[in-house]
Amino acid sequence: MERMTEAKKPHKSGRTTSPNSPEFMKFISSGWAAEREEPQPKAEVATYAARRRAIVAEAFAGKILVIQAGGSVTRSNDTEYRYRPHTAFAHLTGWGSATVPDSVLVIDARAHAHHCQLYFRPTAGRNTEEFFTDSSIGEFWVGDRPDLRQVASLLDIETVDLVELDDYLSALPDDLVVRLENQELATFVDELRLVKDEYEIEQMRQAVAVSSEGFNDVLRALPWAMAHERGERVVESAFFARARMDGNDLGYETIAASGAHACILHWIQNDGPVKPGDLLLVDAGIELESLYTADITRTIPVSGHFTPVQRKIYEAVLEAADAAFAVAKPGVKFRALHEAAMKVIATKMIEWGFIDITLEEALAGDRQLHRRWMVHGTSHHLGMDVHDCDRARSEMYREAELREGMVFTIEPGLYFQPDDLLVPEEFRGIGVRIEDNVLVTKDGLENLSAALPRHPDDVEAWIASAS
Ligand code: GLY
Ligand code: MN
Ligand code: MN
Repeated sequence: MERMTEAKKPHKSGRTTSPNSPEFMKFISSGWAAEREEPQPKAEVATYAARRRAIVAEAFAGKILVIQAGGSVTRSNDTEYRYRPHTAFAHLTGWGSATVPDSVLVIDARAHAHHCQLYFRPTAGRNTEEFFTDSSIGEFWVGDRPDLRQVASLLDIETVDLVELDDYLSALPDDLVVRLENQELATFVDELRLVKDEYEIEQMRQAVAVSSEGFNDVLRALPWAMAHERGERVVESAFFARARMDGNDLGYETIAASGAHACILHWIQNDGPVKPGDLLLVDAGIELESLYTADITRTIPVSGHFTPVQRKIYEAVLEAADAAFAVAKPGVKFRALHEAAMKVIATKMIEWGFIDITLEEALAGDRQLHRRWMVHGTSHHLGMDVHDCDRARSEMYREAELREGMVFTIEPGLYFQPDDLLVPEEFRGIGVRIEDNVLVTKDGLENLSAALPRHPDDVEAWIASAS
């Protein structure tokens, strides 16, 4: 399908263009049934989003905050990637994957009772050129978009046509306006998501549930994956199908890493075979229309059973994960989980003779020689962004105490590169990660991804039941 208009193009395309005679314009603008304006009931998220805006308004009292959803990203020429609004915009409006590109939330916090407005481009009338020529927003190209009243009732917020935003902003003194580029605001809105509200927790449960189905699909696709020379792509595709069927998209590119590819932490090329006898590491998560995503890893023996050395490594990783689970509860520091997991990893590396130092020496300061086999962290916050709340200050993140309602990952791993001369040959080319998504409760943790088997016996039973 090609776009017809020449408008807005930096160069002249050789492709077909639309007729632009007055006669054609009149003809294409007429003969349509009356437009329907179905009212939209208020979304559940609207109440939560209003609360979040009130918190931001209080923190930035006296200012006018401008929070942009952002525009579409070009893939090439006039072809764009699937649109995704900025996370802070989605969080503060409740508008997820349906957000109209270029929308802007304005929070006027000058008065005690702050005032919010959502600016966006409603569908253009059928008597405009945009209707049939604009491939990025025209109804002929992208379908009907909601009108101002529909979004106002859906999100329970005042809505304004985007064409009015420039005039509104240009009338304001510069020092009154704070945008997301402002470090303080960017940090504040990220820290606002560190503790999830009830609505967000429910979304996380759903994201994990559909992602778990995706993992079941992967297991069912294993015979096909083994039969295909690019079996990892079969794995990736099986999960992606579930992402599009039951969610909005992937929360991040799937890592489908079989054999030694599992030792490449962000292996997303996924073009290798899935061979009997290998371990297959799948790190994948589905993002919902609300934009909340899971981030789960399971490492499974392709043939259905772990070899003794694979099991030994797997059990060490599981022990590290369980050690992190065991210490987690409100009041404990976030970094204590990583420390608990690393104590297990260091102990194993010493026991197995890979490093010749004491545990105290291994864990002391910045020495950490065991980290050769696990260079990544154990946990990160999770929510609308896979690495959620990334701009939060260290004292609010790594150095902060756990609070009820926090959601994060626990994901230790061990990776023995195929050319690692410091480990016995039988270890080389084996990578294992176990990644769960957890919620801090009043007195501990809930493993949201517990439905997916973790113990090696359970993993083997899971594979058997899928085939
Ligand atoms: N999937 C990226 C991560 O686990 O952090
Ligand atoms: Mn992951
Ligand atoms: Mn992760």
